[in-house]
Amino acid sequence: MAEELQTYLLEHFQWLHRHPELALKEYETTNYVKNVLKQTEGVELLNLGLDTGALAKIEGKEPGGVVAIRADIDALPILEESGLSYSSENDGCMHALPIEEKTGALYASLIPGKMHACGHDFHTTALLGVAKLLGGEREHIKGTVILLFQPAEEAEHGGEKVVNTGMFEKYKIEKIFGLHTKQNMPVGTIAIAPGPFSAAVDRFLYTVKGMGCHGSAPQTGLDPIPAAARLVGSLQEIVSRRISPTETAVISVTRFTSGTSWNIIPETARLEGTVRTFNPKVREQIVELMQAQAEGLEREGYQVEFTWIPGCPATNNDADLAELVRKEAVEEGFHVTLQHPEMGGEDFSCYQELVPGAFFHVGTGGKYPAHNSKFTVDVTFCKAALLGASKLMSEIVKKALKAS
Ligand code: NI
Repeated sequence: MAEELQTYLLEHFQWLHRHPELALKEYETTNYVKNVLKQTEGVELLNLGLDTGALAKIEGKEPGGVVAIRADIDALPILEESGLSYSSENDGCMHALPIEEKTGALYASLIPGKMHACGHDFHTTALLGVAKLLGGEREHIKGTVILLFQPAEEAEHGGEKVVNTGMFEKYKIEKIFGLHTKQNMPVGTIAIAPGPFSAAVDRFLYTVKGMGCHGSAPQTGLDPIPAAARLVGSLQEIVSRRISPTETAVISVTRFTSGTSWNIIPETARLEGTVRTFNPKVREQIVELMQAQAEGLEREGYQVEFTWIPGCPATNNDADLAELVRKEAVEEGFHVTLQHPEMGGEDFSCYQELVPGAFFHVGTGGKYPAHNSKFTVDVTFCKAALLGASKLMSEIVKKALKAS
């Protein structure tokens, strides 16, 4: 049975890996997942209400609570170089990333390649495994299991879109679980912790407008470049001098653009970057301080536009559910380590704003990190890792239902 299930999971994993699709464009993936779910005993397909992504439920024989599991299904715009026999088949077509209207960033360009370089194919397969396992044992389930295949985790705010469908209220979801692969942990390990797991991910943009003039006569205009350069320095002082040393925050300026030629002092300079925090109060404080920086430059005569584009909040694991995951993982034979908070983002946090949830890392080995063109799940132990993750998630959900 285990061998049969491993082969079943590996087939789905390899199909998904061969057919990666970008955020909100996961049409083939969605059809594939829906078809598998339709053929899975004990699973009822529901309407998620979005163009991509899927929703299903498994109704236990006994009434009880409602627990959801989420897997993300989207891939990345990367040209695969893993050398796997089941490498991406969606590599040939060139595609443009959309121009980002809010920021006016003009870097839409034709890029080749789509790849599951973050393990979302693994997450999707593990959830199909849960469907297979739990669908076949409804007599042991007390309550309802909701299976959520979320689109657009990497970009385009998929978590928020799912929340806006109202599915949490509609299906009265009480708890939620999710996992992410971790390349630097071997197969057979998981990492979990109560509290913050990943950071809030926000984005900012400054446009500093002065007055353009001849490069030889700066006094006749108002040069935005030194002002924007000072702004970069001042932003670093927010973290080092204004935020409590016991709190965690990152402000990174990742793009600085200005000018057209060597002898023209430009009219505008533009800065863009990201802010990462765990504490919502620190997050708010940073927005205010960044706004104040803009106002400071305005007093010098510049026109400054500060745009704050909020992303997902920090994940925040419920202590009881994190403990449930830890215990169950030990029982299933996993080596469990304590997860240290990371400054990366994960839009699973959108769900944790609505209901208690726990998110954890599952070790999948492999040589290259996520978002690398050579990223793979440990090929030797892939089958075992898929089955292990499916079984662990199934047991976690059953226990969570018993407790509700
Ligand atoms: Ni990911």
